Amino acid sequence: FMSYNLKKTVVLVGMMGAGKTAVGRALAAKLDVPFIDSDAEIEKAANMSIAEIFARDGEPFFRQKESQVIARLLEDERCILSTGGGAYLAEGNRAVISERGVAVWLDADVDLLWSRVKHKDTRPLLRTDNPRQTLEEIFAARVPLYSQADLPVPAEAGLSIEEMADRVAHA
Ligand code: S3P
Repeated sequence: FMSYNLKKTVVLVGMMGAGKTAVGRALAAKLDVPFIDSDAEIEKAANMSIAEIFARDGEPFFRQKESQVIARLLEDERCILSTGGGAYLAEGNRAVISERGVAVWLDADVDLLWSRVKHKDTRPLLRTDNPRQTLEEIFAARVPLYSQADLPVPAEAGLSIEEMADRVAHA
């Protein structure tokens, strides 16, 4: 089996809980190409978790790091690149991504997203009195931006990670 020749880096974007990391990893394994997760890169460089970075340095600092990491990763070897849910919001990030990569939006509805994130405590943006409502508000604000991605891929409940990776590969 030959490793797939990616013409561009495939950048997975979309909400927290959409499956960007899990699907990205499965897709990379399927195609035998490198997989990189921008949040994991930020954590490695800072030697802190995302939650710790938000708490210590604030969200604007995190967004700055996120933009730097994404720009750098897109200059490197082509790969499957999973990003944090906010990475596609800044116009500069969208420009860099569309220039060097292809943006794939894992498009899941709020019920599915909530079912995936509600048990976890790793997302600082959802540390509010009503995290479900917060998730809905973030979702509503972001959908118009995610819609600008090159390829929307619907993520329905019941689809396995492998099935989602197949969908992305076909798209
Ligand atoms: C964020 C999503 C997180 C992480 C940070 C901010 C967001 O990544 O980057 O907590 O703004 O949606 P995931 O989408 O992998 O949860």
